[in-house]
Amino acid sequence: MSSIWIVDFGSQYTQLITRKSRELGFASEIMLVEDCIKKLKNEKPSAIILSGGPNSIFEDITDYSTIFDTKLPILGICYGMQLISNHFGGKVERGIQGEYGLASVHGEGEFTIPGAKTSINTWMSHFDHVTEVPPGFKTILKSDNGLIAGIESTEKKIMALQFHPEVEHTEHGKDILLHFFKDIANLKTNWSNEVMLEGCIKEVSEVKGSKVLCAFSGGVDSLVAATIAHKVLGDDLYCFFVDNGLLRPQDYHHIELLKKETPLNIEVIDAKELFFAKLKDVPDPEKKRKAIGVTFIEVFEQKVHQFETEQNIKFEYLLQGTLYPDVIESVSPHKKGGKSVTIKSHHNVGGLPERMKLKLLEPLKFLFKDEVRVLGEAVDLKYDWVHRHPFPGPGIGVRILGEVFPESVLKVQESDQILFEELKNQHLYEACWQAFTVLLPVKTVGVKGDTRAYEEVICIRIVNSTDGMTATWTDLPYEFLSKASARITNEVSGVTRVVYDITSKPPGTIEWE
Ligand code: XMP
Repeated sequence: MSSIWIVDFGSQYTQLITRKSRELGFASEIMLVEDCIKKLKNEKPSAIILSGGPNSIFEDITDYSTIFDTKLPILGICYGMQLISNHFGGKVERGIQGEYGLASVHGEGEFTIPGAKTSINTWMSHFDHVTEVPPGFKTILKSDNGLIAGIESTEKKIMALQFHPEVEHTEHGKDILLHFFKDIANLKTNWSNEVMLEGCIKEVSEVKGSKVLCAFSGGVDSLVAATIAHKVLGDDLYCFFVDNGLLRPQDYHHIELLKKETPLNIEVIDAKELFFAKLKDVPDPEKKRKAIGVTFIEVFEQKVHQFETEQNIKFEYLLQGTLYPDVIESVSPHKKGGKSVTIKSHHNVGGLPERMKLKLLEPLKFLFKDEVRVLGEAVDLKYDWVHRHPFPGPGIGVRILGEVFPESVLKVQESDQILFEELKNQHLYEACWQAFTVLLPVKTVGVKGDTRAYEEVICIRIVNSTDGMTATWTDLPYEFLSKASARITNEVSGVTRVVYDITSKPPGTIEWE
């Protein structure tokens, strides 16, 4: 299947271009410009999109003629527009002042903005701009303050935009993209749920006949990956679910349901005692995270060894629910050579050491989370199963500040269950991206049934986000908060006070540790 290649020049919106084109039914993938140039020697995409980026073409000495000589349909966005104009003989000038934020744009000449009657609001973020249209191109859009905002050449099958059609803030952005795909590039739709599923099945089929193990958390990604893999591998797929004792009641319930209601071969490994022993006297958040990660690997290795020695089963592949954003992150121009500060060391159920010599099987690695959810429903997984909130690998371990004691785990389990029930009862669960409780190991004075209480505090944390990278605290109705608070203080022993976290990320992180 021929897809659109999206060349990433480092815009923060590049992922959105992929998502928008797939939503419109066109397969697309992101790559770096050097990879694009290399790949063009042997392959041809259906079209190329040059993304925006923070650079100025006046400092860019790369030779892009390999791309422009292909005569393939090309869409340039922002920086991409300047590259196109520059290459085809137009004039680009350095702006005295950048243009950032919303800008009103209208159609020029015979061009009318698809779907719009008058000017539209568009999202701009640029400094340099095109002042003379290259020969053979015509201006199709101008901003209301007179700047060239869009050009095209139907003959060359090229269109370029100064604004970002992929961003929600741009009105009719999808219509404008569709104009490029259909009217300029003449593309036929080639992306659908069926195509996504076929791609994943094909990936798994390549390892058919091998023994595959999955570090199964029951979360959306591992569940969808395992369900699809099981269709091809059947009983050669083994799902190990490690019970680290740091799970919520809803997780235990969920795994029991999955065992009953799916054909997956799920084995629950009870390692609670070992995890609690390893967490004894470890109050530091990073040390706790490391201890949980290392213990997880220890348990897993033991289990794999047991299979090898007792049942003569040798695993060759590790199935992981890696998603496209993780893959893009690792090749993004921002990341290349850049040093990022470790805020916390994330541990994902599934990250196993190289010494285990397992090859990776990652059938979801070209998909975004919302596509994985759609795929999950397409393979008949229940709506609730594929719309669960994210839950971190270290679980409740990072929701108890300081040392983890079994009685603290119980307080978080009970309060979390109350919060979960109330969100479900009041139909608010789907409206929140993530919701949980945290135990603050400080004692405060209260009164319970006419007597003095001196007990701990539960914090309710509810956030909205799209990818967990940034988040805002969620403003929920007072009736909801007051019901949850009343139930927690009444039903969870050892808790007299409930607080609501009104910190966004940044500066806070979503988890407290
Ligand atoms: P933070 O706390 O870093 O969390 O703002 C962002 C998102 O990531 C989840 N999270 C984790 N997920 N392993 C995971 O699989 C981890 O170690 C981990 N730590 C945090 C967190 O729940 C939120 O959704």
